[in-house]
Amino acid sequence: MPRVPQGLYDRLVAVRRELHQYPELSWQEGRTAGVIANFLHGLAIQHRTNVAGHGVVADIPGASKVPCVVLRADTDALPIQEETGLEFASVHEGVMHACGHDGHTTMLLGAAALLSREKDLPAPVRLIFQPAEEKGAGALAMIKEGALDGAGLIFGGHLDRHYYPGTIVVSDGPVNASSDNFSIEIIGQGAHGARPHESIDAVVVGSLMIMALQTIVSREVDPARPSVVSVGQFHAGTAPNVIAGQAKLEGTVRAQDPAVRRQLLSSVRRIAESIAQLHGAKIHITVTEGTPPLVNDSVMAGLARRAAIEAVGEANVLPLKTANMGAEDFSYYLEKIPGAYVRFGSQVPGREGYPAHSSKFDFDEEALAVGAAYYAAVAKIAGQQLRQQAASS
Ligand code: NI
Repeated sequence: MPRVPQGLYDRLVAVRRELHQYPELSWQEGRTAGVIANFLHGLAIQHRTNVAGHGVVADIPGASKVPCVVLRADTDALPIQEETGLEFASVHEGVMHACGHDGHTTMLLGAAALLSREKDLPAPVRLIFQPAEEKGAGALAMIKEGALDGAGLIFGGHLDRHYYPGTIVVSDGPVNASSDNFSIEIIGQGAHGARPHESIDAVVVGSLMIMALQTIVSREVDPARPSVVSVGQFHAGTAPNVIAGQAKLEGTVRAQDPAVRRQLLSSVRRIAESIAQLHGAKIHITVTEGTPPLVNDSVMAGLARRAAIEAVGEANVLPLKTANMGAEDFSYYLEKIPGAYVRFGSQVPGREGYPAHSSKFDFDEEALAVGAAYYAAVAKIAGQQLRQQAASS
């Protein structure tokens, strides 16, 4: 099993369990950053702390005049009361590492340990320990703080309970969806419940709007391109016998393709405006753009696949079964530089039914060794690519 020396594996398990026991919410990852900084200090790796809040950026030297390869982990936990019964379960009331970011952070520390032993890396390696992934905001904040300055390529990954431990999932194309929210205020005309002819009923207009929005995915988008339009909130009214003059709908839009993303948002606007006009109501629409879709390009996925084969052998490198409609803010980095995002198999027997963000989520710790070996390998393989490009330009 161990894809890293046994002594390092034991240390990684200890670090992961400590991070798991003391989880911290988005933007509050101070203790976690301390654990990271301590580990890096022990390896004599230069690092900056307090980047975009509690982010940590470390640099491992490599060939000069070559851009660096970036490896990225996320560090935050979720507002969930843990119910795993693990001996290292969270001691922070209502906070839990339920998405495996304790594992992601630990893998990257493992890679740091492996890479710090290397003498002549083909390119410098930068490690980004990013806060606030769960808010979809940490990546942008790190980019604003210069985390990608001098960077050539970037790689990241996520634990995945759908695959066995010891596997790495690499794919071209969509991996995660975009996530945008919309809010529609409907302004009609309130009236006595017994005098509907004097009203423009915002509840009726809102209801029609919700039903019409269902036809965007079912009738307008290519069925081969996964997409979601969900209305999660509908607020209106004050009394049984009063026709509501105002209503508010709020929803989310998900797509794996940038063109579909634009199509969904423009359809939401068109349908909402048309339904309002049909009934003489007015609307205000606000769209809050969130994370872009996460799409691997094929060349970068090829580099990732070579590294995965090196780490776990070809038989254990799997294609992605289905892309996830959840969001992942790694996509902001990919808007700036090329890279790829993989998944690390981490299924625990008996816990298959507990997905990420569940109070009973756990992952197989073998993934810590797999992740460390993969990241170290991809840093070297992608580094060789960058060095060749630098030499030929
Ligand atoms: Ni996550």
